[in-house]
Amino acid sequence: MTTTASSLRPTDPDLYAGPALLDPYPHYSWLREQGPAVFHPARGVWLVPGYAEAVRVLRSHGEFVSGDGVAYADATGRERYPLLESDPPIHTRIRRAMQPSFAKGKIEQLRGGVEAAAVAIADEALTLGEIDAVKVIAQPMPDRAIELLTGLTPPSAETLVAWSDATVRAQEPEASPQHAARLHEALNWLVSDGVAGLPEASLGHVILQLGGERGGLEEGTERLMTLASIWLAGIDSTGALLGNAIDAFIEHPDQWELLRRRPDLIPNAVEELLRYEAPFRIFYRRTRAETELAGVRIPAGATVGAMLGSAGRDPRQFPDPDRLDLTRDNARTHLAFGASIHLCLGQPLARMEVTSMLTELTRRVQRFERAGEPVRSPSKTMRKFDSLPVRVVPTEGARG
Ligand code: HEM
Repeated sequence: MTTTASSLRPTDPDLYAGPALLDPYPHYSWLREQGPAVFHPARGVWLVPGYAEAVRVLRSHGEFVSGDGVAYADATGRERYPLLESDPPIHTRIRRAMQPSFAKGKIEQLRGGVEAAAVAIADEALTLGEIDAVKVIAQPMPDRAIELLTGLTPPSAETLVAWSDATVRAQEPEASPQHAARLHEALNWLVSDGVAGLPEASLGHVILQLGGERGGLEEGTERLMTLASIWLAGIDSTGALLGNAIDAFIEHPDQWELLRRRPDLIPNAVEELLRYEAPFRIFYRRTRAETELAGVRIPAGATVGAMLGSAGRDPRQFPDPDRLDLTRDNARTHLAFGASIHLCLGQPLARMEVTSMLTELTRRVQRFERAGEPVRSPSKTMRKFDSLPVRVVPTEGARG
C-alpha cells in the first residue's frame, strides 16, 4: 500500500543552504520525522533521511540505479567514472577487475609507508604546536597514502587539495564553472604528466597497462577513468574524516582521554567517527521506472538521495545518536562507506590511514585545544573543514 508522499514547503529549511548546511544534524532529525522519502520540490530530489530506508535504496540497485549518475548533477562534460556510475553487469566486471588490488593482504603492503607518514605528520604537528589541523594533519595523510597506492605524484599539495575539492563540488547544486575547470585540469594532468613514469608495482601501472591484476578493464577511457576515480575519491573523503575527528575530540575531551587510555578502542573509534560525521553527506540514485519506498510511491526518472550523514544519526539504529561514544557496539553498521555492490572500494586503506594517525596521536598528544574559529566548507556533499586552528598539547613524554 502506498501513502501520499511528504513534500517540503518553500518556507521549510533547505539542506543545501544556510544553517541546515552548516549544522545539519538538527535539520536531519526534523527531516526524518517528515516521512521515509520526502520530496524537495525546489531542488527536484527525493530525500531519504532514515537509516533503514537509505539501506533499502543502496541495496535495491535494480530500482535505484547508479548508471545515470550518483551526484546531484554533472555539468562538467567528463567521461563517467566506470565503477561508481555503472550498474551490473558492467559494474560487476569492473569491480572484479579492481577487487584484488584492494584485498586485505594487498593493502597491508602499504602499512609501513602509511605508518611512517603518520609519524612524520605527528612530528610536524608537535613541533609547530599551533596548527591548522586541516593542512598539517588531515590533508597530508591521504595525499601520501594515495601516492603510495597509485604511484601518482601530484604537482603540489595545494593543487591536489583544489583538485579533490573540485571533483566533488563540480557535481553539487550551484556548482561553479571554476569547479568544472579544476576537475578538467586534474584529468588533463593525469593524462599528460601523471601517468608518465608510473612505477611498475603501482596500482596506476596495473590499471593502465594490464587492466587490473587479472585484466578485465577495457583499454583507453575505461582504464583511465577508473584510475582517475580511485585517485580522486580517496583524498578529500579521508581528509574530511580526519579533520572532523580532531574537531570531535576537542568537543568531547573525555573520549580523547578514553582513547589515550584504551588504544585497543581505536578500530571501533574509527567506525564511530564515521557514523558520527559521515564525510559524504549524501549519494544519489535515479529511478527508471515507478517504484515504492517504505510505502511512498516514487515516479520514474526521480533523483533519490540516500542521506548517509542523517542515517548515522537515526535513533532507530543508533540509540542516543548525537553522543560520540567510542564504545558503541554497532558503530560499524554506519553507512559512511555506502552499502551493497558499491560499498567503498578504498575502505581498507581509509581505515588504515585513520587508525595509524590516531595511534600516533594518542601516544603523543594529551589534548587538542581550539586556537581560533574553525571554518566549515560550504560543500553540499562533503562534511569537512576548510580550516581548523588547533593547539596540540603534548603528553609529558612527548615534550622535547
Ligand atoms: C573516509 C574515507 C572514504 C569515505 C567516507 C568513502 C565513501 C564512499 C562511499 C559512500 C561510496 C559509495 C558510493 C555509492 O554508493 O554510490 C564509495 C565508493 C567508492 N570509493 Fe570510497 N570513501 C572513502 C575513501 C576511499 C578511498 C581511500 C578510495 C581509494 C583508494 C576510495 C575509492 C572508492 C571507489 C573506487 C568507490 C566506488 C565503488 C563502486 O562503485 O563499486 N574511497 N566511497
